[in-house]
Amino acid sequence: MKALEGVRILDMTHVQSGPTCTQLLAWFGADVIKVERPGVGDITRGQLQDIEGADSLYFTMLNSNKRSITLNTKSDKGKEIFEGLIKACDVMVENFAPGAIDRMGFPWERIQELNPRMIYASVKGFGPGPYEDCKVYENVAQCAGGAASTTGFDDGPPLVTGAQIGDSGTGLHLALGIVTALYQREKTGRGQRVLAAMQDGVLNLCRVKLRDQQRLTHGPLKEYPQYPHGEFGPAVPRSGNASGGGQPGWILKCRGWETDPDAYIYFITQAPVWGRICKVIGREEWIEDPDYATAEARLPRLTEIFDAIEEWTKTKTKFEVMETLNPLDIPCGPILSLKEIAEEPSLRETGTVVEVDHPTRGSYLTVGNPIKLSDSPSDVSRSPLLGEHTDEILSEVLGLNDGEIADAKASGAVGDEPRNIAAE
Ligand SMILES: CC(C)(COP(=O)(O)OP(=O)(O)OC[C@H]1O[C@@H](n2cnc3c(N)ncnc32)[C@H](O)[C@@H]1OP(=O)(O)O)[C@@H](O)C(=O)NCCC(=O)NCCS
Repeated sequence: MKALEGVRILDMTHVQSGPTCTQLLAWFGADVIKVERPGVGDITRGQLQDIEGADSLYFTMLNSNKRSITLNTKSDKGKEIFEGLIKACDVMVENFAPGAIDRMGFPWERIQELNPRMIYASVKGFGPGPYEDCKVYENVAQCAGGAASTTGFDDGPPLVTGAQIGDSGTGLHLALGIVTALYQREKTGRGQRVLAAMQDGVLNLCRVKLRDQQRLTHGPLKEYPQYPHGEFGPAVPRSGNASGGGQPGWILKCRGWETDPDAYIYFITQAPVWGRICKVIGREEWIEDPDYATAEARLPRLTEIFDAIEEWTKTKTKFEVMETLNPLDIPCGPILSLKEIAEEPSLRETGTVVEVDHPTRGSYLTVGNPIKLSDSPSDVSRSPLLGEHTDEILSEVLGLNDGEIADAKASGAVGDEPRNIAAE
């Protein structure tokens, strides 16, 4: 049994943020019915395509464990079928541009009328305010949520990060909102609206930077690389690779850095293990020296300290550094390339990296469920082909007979996509 077994999701999501959310719910056991436009489908099926004619990795890696129905929700017959699905589902999730579902003829009031138990969850770029009508993609959210202005080096422009904190991060927030609303519905019997705005999600993940904004009014941020020689302006500056927490850290070169762009280690000079750090890098004199002995005394000397540690890390590979420091409980972590991650056996063993078979593209790697429940195991199954489950959903979920299904297809309300699952 899976945690969300029996929960049926009407998945009107596309691109990344919404699909991340519904994929998680599917891994937890929900029946996720992905609604796509006939003949077109989620735009990502054809974006960044690496194999001609096959669903892209962009799509396949965000839509595991779902069923696909094609439905034109703007046609009369399509609206009738859509109403049936609204009545048959527990949760509806969408991340269209603001107002798109209303324009289809389904404002929240209408959805509630059709199904008072419905939980209606949306991702939008911005919450209510001056930008609420804007379309938003990942990097716009990273910029508007505070991440970009605080990422990068002091002498460079703002930087976006490869982690999709705007899209996948907001999808995670939305999933939590949905299961919370499902829990409340157990007691009230009522559904509700759930909104996760991407700007809000990114800001939530940038909470420590708003912390620093307020600290700045009381003096320089001593753990930032700008201290003690640089200037602080009115806003939190970019902090390079500084740790952001109370224990200073930096990225240091390891053996091979001249040719390998990922031969680096993140090194944390955690105060309780300072003596061990001094011993391992051969600077025992720093253990008692009042200029280095306390965390406070070290703050203005962090650049010099990390330079000295780097002289040592440069003599070893990042994995040798790990092997030396781990038994000493000195916190550190290698900069792993995606190639190394894809090949890492322990991630395969835990199901965090999974190989999946697909009828038109062959096998591919995907990231499995990163949240492990002891009583609800997650199996990753491949993403659906466009409209693969149209007939099945119309008959099983809505009770349509063969003649009614044929009529729906003839009217163009649902698609009649060729099934290409011969390889299965
Ligand atoms: C991501 C985003 C920028 C993409 O914009 P887009 O490609 O122009 O797509 P839209 O969301 O505007 O929707 C496209 C249209 O397709 C229509 N459509 C979608 N599915 C349909 C279906 N099954 N049948 C009929 N029409 C359908 C929508 O109703 C909409 O039509 P409208 O503009 O006439 O109202 C936009 O959806 C957005 O801002 N979403 C919210 C924030 C978000 O999630 N961003 C991150 C995405 S990873």
